[in-house]
Amino acid sequence: MAITAVKGFNDILPGEVEKWQYIERTARRIFELYGLSEIRIPILEKTELFCRSIGDATDIVEKEMYSFEDKGENKVTMRPEGTASVMRAFIEHKLYAADPIARLYYMGPMFRYERPQKGRYRQFHQIGVELTGVTAPTVDAQVLTMLSHFFAELGLDEPSLQINSLGCPECRPRYREALKSFLFSRLELLCEDCKRRYETNPLRALDCKSAGCIEATKGAPSMLEYLCADCDDHFSKTKGLLDLVGTRYAINERMVRGLDYYTRTTFEMVTTMLGAQSAVAAGGRYDGLIAELGGPKLPGIGFAMGVERVALLLAEKEFARRPDLFIAFMGEEAQGTAYKLMTDLQRKGASVEMDYEVKSLKSQMRRSDKFNARYTLIIGGDELARGTAPLKNMAAGTQEEVALSAEAIYEQVKKG
Ligand code: HAM
Repeated sequence: MAITAVKGFNDILPGEVEKWQYIERTARRIFELYGLSEIRIPILEKTELFCRSIGDATDIVEKEMYSFEDKGENKVTMRPEGTASVMRAFIEHKLYAADPIARLYYMGPMFRYERPQKGRYRQFHQIGVELTGVTAPTVDAQVLTMLSHFFAELGLDEPSLQINSLGCPECRPRYREALKSFLFSRLELLCEDCKRRYETNPLRALDCKSAGCIEATKGAPSMLEYLCADCDDHFSKTKGLLDLVGTRYAINERMVRGLDYYTRTTFEMVTTMLGAQSAVAAGGRYDGLIAELGGPKLPGIGFAMGVERVALLLAEKEFARRPDLFIAFMGEEAQGTAYKLMTDLQRKGASVEMDYEVKSLKSQMRRSDKFNARYTLIIGGDELARGTAPLKNMAAGTQEEVALSAEAIYEQVKKG
């Protein structure tokens, strides 16, 4: 029996991959407008890195990591996300010594042992951004505005931005206690996971999708009411800056995020188009993470988007590539001329197709249709004798006689 791919691990085939390249190209272009540089980080890290950053009581660390011992008995993990790795690199290479403000982006596969379904896979891809060294809300607003700019650039109305603040180590414990007291009399309603997490991570009940947790958390106190003066001021200023530049958002007081490192501003780009997998991108501030990983006391903020989910939102758009020109030929002599013209044109920067073998004109035209070439050129004995051939503009249905020279053809196909 033929061997198939591992469950939850997908091939991205030609036809689909053009969409991915478009997403990646757009991300690079937009991020670079905001001064970001790319960083490439390894897929494998020490397991400890993720336990310490994402948190021991999170779903990712508890049950979703691809961890194993390598042949040297080192405990390693295939990265489930990028933030921890980027911060590890930031600290390890002392990037902060040259400038505490690092503005980085990355793209690549991440691995989580989740139950695969539409929009959720075991190998999935993120495009992520991390900015360090700035406490001011100007950076929160800029990151959110850049993310909205990116989706606007893709021509998508969805997803929409939701924001919240999770406070800081000063005010969040007070909120945790308030929430625990509120939930205490409703413990029976909570799902098994949230009941178990009641002591370690009670906030997760707020965004749990189970009916019991939704019921139990109705009327629960909001983190926003418990923010300390500094966190409250930070959140107000962030909102003020978003308003100033016209970045649209809604406040979602129930957003808690599934990773422990977050502080203050957290956000998600959500859609109703992908069923249960509503978050297309998500992130937030992590002001304690760099120090927690042994680095200097510097704040950070960032997000990651799921490329598969962005691609699903772009499902209706057409991305297939089209060659500039298809050259059909009749006879072996014309084949030589066509082959030389094709190569010269490719060297000049035009995308050109022709058949590899001698075929009937009808079969060549079928192939040209399949490629959906913008122009076709037909070369036979008469054309060789004349030194010119008819160049057809397929969309316009017009035809023009061109010299059989790469320069003349190039000028025509690049003009239209
Ligand atoms: P996250 O919320 O775990 O955050 O993931 C970010 C995005 O990755 C999600 O919104 C979703 O689009 C996509 N994603 C996550 N899991 C899967 C999956 N199994 N299949 C398909 N797509 C998935 C983080 O990873 C943080 N590191 C984001 C961040 C960066 N925060 C600060 N900086």
